[in-house]
Formats: sequence, structure tokens, C-alpha cells
Amino acid sequence: MMKTADSASAGTLLTIDDYQSPQGWRQPADAKQRARHYCDQLEQGKVLFFNRIPFNFPDENQKFLLSQKQSSSRLHKNVSYRPKQEKLRGSAGNKEETARLHAVMRSFSQETVKFLSELLQPYAAHWTLDFASFRPEQEKGRDLPVHKRNDLLHVDSFPTRPMHGRRILRCFTNINPTEARVWHTTDTFPALAKNYAADAGLSEFAAKGSRRSHPLVRGVKKMFGLKAVDHSAYDRFMLRFHDYLKEKEDFQQNCPKIRLEFPPGSTWMCYTDSVPHAVLSGRYALEQTFIIPLHALVTPEQAPIRVLEKMTGVPMAAPAMV
Ligand code: SIN
Ligand code: FE
Repeated sequence: MMKTADSASAGTLLTIDDYQSPQGWRQPADAKQRARHYCDQLEQGKVLFFNRIPFNFPDENQKFLLSQKQSSSRLHKNVSYRPKQEKLRGSAGNKEETARLHAVMRSFSQETVKFLSELLQPYAAHWTLDFASFRPEQEKGRDLPVHKRNDLLHVDSFPTRPMHGRRILRCFTNINPTEARVWHTTDTFPALAKNYAADAGLSEFAAKGSRRSHPLVRGVKKMFGLKAVDHSAYDRFMLRFHDYLKEKEDFQQNCPKIRLEFPPGSTWMCYTDSVPHAVLSGRYALEQTFIIPLHALVTPEQAPIRVLEKMTGVPMAAPAMV
């Protein structure tokens, strides 16, 4: 059964109208309480939505991004910006264009950070800034291997950046002047875990625990110049769960779907480790990722790691890492 009614998407989308750009909060005296409320709503699996871009994003920067040539590499069409290392990846232009692209991505990242420092003030002192990206490719009809397909419902996990239970928060902006970005979503993580975690092997991942890889394996990786990243049981399960959901045709075809349309010039954010998402169509979106530690959350017991630990009865990451 396909749920596409507005009432279904209204339950997932929370439109914010008491924070605007550049003024900020409509009632500054209530800022603290409103910010806490929005953190709480995100943690409950809501998608926060603005029908305008709620931070400074100059027109000329948007026009520049829309005019960019695309990289010819099929799997690396995105531009990524790493704020902590000040690095840009995926530019297809010459030296000057690359420098401009770098500056535009830096500005987007900084403005998003400024905006979320106010909107989600309880998180701001605690988050780790992750990558930002620009997604110029039309999502509809992309020909990708199944685990890389973003038009299949999934929750996010990063192979190279273990979370140890910390949360993945992403803030998106659609700069396409005419076309919406269209997502599907379905029931959030607690329901997905209840229905599918056991079948995806949760108890085996929990039983193996969070031991570091064998010193020999770490040594060999080092020899080849690879970083030996330590994945917790939580990370190993979440990586598997991402692939499991994409592979599972019955789930992809038959789960109840809620269609979300993000119009030109809109901004939205959610915890993508808990809100399942599939992008069906759209091009020219930007996104900045934040990593939120559990101690910064308003309701840490709703975090996926806590949901899984409740099911398995064992810790799935070392407490010091969360
Ligand atoms: C994703 O699956 O994380 C991508 C969503 C998007 O690009 O809209
Ligand atoms: Fe995703």
C-alpha cells in the first residue's frame, strides 16, 4: 500500500516558521526552549523543513554551482568539502574554477554551521563537523550498483567513519531553480529494527562485540598506507543493515511509503541514521553533515545504538567513544 497523502507527510515533516533568515528567532526570548524542542523533534524522527533557505547563500554562489561542469567519473559525481582539513574533492574545472568552487563550498559549510548553531543550540558545543557535499547529478535513472543506489530506502552509515553510536545529522538545501528533490521515507529506525534487525544478523554482531581488528590485519593495512579504522559492533551492524535494506526487495516494494517533496530553494534536515530515505529525483542539492554525540541529545534513549542495545542486552560500543 502506498501512502502518499499529505497527512502522512505532514506527520513526518515539521515546517519551521518561527526562525527566519537573516533575523533569526521570531521571539528571541524563547530561543532556548524552541531550540530544545526542535532537537527533540529531530530525535523523534521528524524532518525539519524550511520553505526558504534560512541562511546566507548569495545568488551568485548558487548560479556558479548551477553552471558547473560535471566530473566524468561515473561514481564520483559529487563534490565534497572537508571543513576540518580544508580540502575539496571532485572538482572537474580548471584551477580558477576549482578555487571558486572551494570558496563557495566553504561559505556554504560555514553558513550552515552558523545557522544550526542557533536553531539547534543544545548541540552546537558538542558536534563534530563532517563533510559537506554538492550533488549536481540527476538522481532519477542513475545506473549504480545496488549498495550505492540512493533511490532505495536505507539508513546511513559511513564505511570510513565509524560512529560508535554517535548520530548522523544532515542538513540539505535544494538550489535547483525549477525542480523539487523527491524523497521516499517509511517507518523510522525503532520499527525497522523491530521488523528486520534480527534477520540482518543483529545477535551475531552483538555477540562478536567491539574488539579491535587483529594486530596483524592492522599491520598489513598500515603497510599499504591504509588507515586501520576501528568499528564497534554498532558500526558493523549499521553497515550491514544499510546493505541488507537495499538488498531486500520485499521491503523496498511493499513497505508503506511517505513521499516528501522539497521544492526549489528549500532546506531540510534529519537524522539520516534513523529516518529511512530514498531520493527518487532531483539534482543540485547541497548538504552538510554533523556528528552528534549521545551526551548532547535531548533523548539519548531514542538513538539507534540504544534501541539495538535494548534488543540485544549488551553494549554495542565502548562507553567512552559514544
Ligand atoms: C542519501 O541517501 O543520503 C542522499 C539523499 C539526497 O541526496 O537527497
Ligand atoms: Fe543516505
